[in-house]
Amino acid sequence: MKEQSKQIIIRFAKESELVRVNELRKLVNDLHVEGKPEIFRAGFNDELRDFIYKIWKDPEQKIVVAELNGVVCGFAVLHHIHRPENPFMLERDFMDVDEFCVDKEYRRQGIATKMMSFIRNYTKEKGIKRLELNMWEFNQDALAFYEAVGFKTYRRYMEMKV
Ligand SMILES: CC(C)(COP(=O)(O)OP(=O)(O)OC[C@H]1O[C@@H](n2cnc3c(N)ncnc32)[C@H](O)[C@@H]1OP(=O)(O)O)[C@@H](O)C(=O)NCCC(=O)NCCS
Repeated sequence: MKEQSKQIIIRFAKESELVRVNELRKLVNDLHVEGKPEIFRAGFNDELRDFIYKIWKDPEQKIVVAELNGVVCGFAVLHHIHRPENPFMLERDFMDVDEFCVDKEYRRQGIATKMMSFIRNYTKEKGIKRLELNMWEFNQDALAFYEAVGFKTYRRYMEMKV
């Protein structure tokens, strides 16, 4: 495993890798459909597939990949959010981690941790002082990971079936 971890490269994606990134996005979508079938659309529809190219073209968004032995095995989408002050809130400026996944057979090797460290460094370099993300409550594996790398819950969504 030490040998493997030496070969992990975390960097921004190339356009030619977006087809592979979409394979990983499908994994996340399938997980969401399984966990919240009343909310998420099953399958991987064309709009969802093409959305990665909108992200690619948006100057406020970045796609990070993890490459191990020449294989893209993880990805994340970063979105710089800047909101002016409003009657409720002060001005807000943060990096949102919109999507995040490591392929199944590559998990528990520290790859996501390395990706988050890259994201943190990049965010700092940009002079942004805050990282945020939101996640679905059923996804306790993701929660365990986010907490392991230092995220804390600061806000909740609640629901009631009526
Ligand atoms: C969540 C996810 C990104 C973690 O990736 P990973 O590369 O396996 O994470 P790491 O190896 O860096 O894990 C670091 C630590 O996080 C915690 N952790 C990670 N996955 C965990 C799991 N399934 N259960 C419990 N703790 C977990 C552990 O403390 C782990 O350290 P350890 O392996 O020494 O015990 C990966 O499981 C994944 O892609 N899941 C499916 C997609 C997803 O849920 N994405 C996020 C929501 S959109």
